Amino acid sequence: MPAPMSAAAIEASAPQRSLRRFDDTAWEHGPGAHLEHLLETGCVLHFPQLPFVLQESERPFLDPRWSDGKSKNISLREGSRLRGAQGTPQQLEALGAMIGRFAMQAQQLVERLFPQYRGKLRAGNASLRPFEVAGRSSSWRHDDTRLHVDAFPSNPMHGVRLLRVFTNVHPGQRPRQWRVGEPFEDFARRFAPRLRRPLPGSARLLRLLHVTKSLRTPYDDAMLQLHDLAKADLDYQRDAPQAAVDFAPGSTWVVYSDQVLHAVMGGQHMMEQTFYLHPDDQLAPETAPLRVLERVLERSLGVPRRA
Ligand code: SIN
Ligand code: FE
Repeated sequence: MPAPMSAAAIEASAPQRSLRRFDDTAWEHGPGAHLEHLLETGCVLHFPQLPFVLQESERPFLDPRWSDGKSKNISLREGSRLRGAQGTPQQLEALGAMIGRFAMQAQQLVERLFPQYRGKLRAGNASLRPFEVAGRSSSWRHDDTRLHVDAFPSNPMHGVRLLRVFTNVHPGQRPRQWRVGEPFEDFARRFAPRLRRPLPGSARLLRLLHVTKSLRTPYDDAMLQLHDLAKADLDYQRDAPQAAVDFAPGSTWVVYSDQVLHAVMGGQHMMEQTFYLHPDDQLAPETAPLRVLERVLERSLGVPRRA
């Protein structure tokens, strides 16, 4: 007779536990509400039955040929300017309208799920991602098939949160295949001994040389290092606690992508909307990567609390 499984073996791993499913079938109403606490503790909120419905005339837009070939996304900036696409003015207008409609639905969703954030979330870009992920070649630093938290070399966040709404719009069966990693604090503690302080004056120099769009705070520097350390560490990629999750066509998921370790292994045709939130506007500001890192590193990371 096989030995009974220990409680620890039966218990789901932390990454597995972070996946939470909800039955919502509409963007503007449904059972999901007051989910700030789950989001802020690093959960992936998964809505398997929440599709972005394309109009018949929009179906042809699920094709990489609309990309201008220079960027991997077609994006709608500040709700109006379309970037990364090619086509006639009428086609581009229709494509922009489709992405704009997604942006509106994403807005309705976050206002409903996170009432605490109402009036405080700022919408960033919305995008259509038409390329197949698997087999896409890129440098290790740009390789999103490796577990990472989102951090950008040119765009310092100053502690501001990155909340993202994703929807798989693949017209067939292709799931968006993700891996989700360990809790942010475990990740931070693991790599903390390898974090180096930025050189004095480096933030100012990067700004002067237009490498960054604003001053790279010690927080941004630490987040970039964490992003790079994780992606460069193949043992970590293989052995770190993680769970695979498939997001089927017609499903939507919401995460803090600066907090949840994630990687995308395959899939094609996805829509995404980014929102920004100041960490002081969270339900539990102490869960923000900024504050977690300050606790782990026992130093200030250059972002004062808002007065
Ligand atoms: C990422 O943020 O790493 C990409 C997610 C995706 O393309 O599914
Ligand atoms: Fe990412």
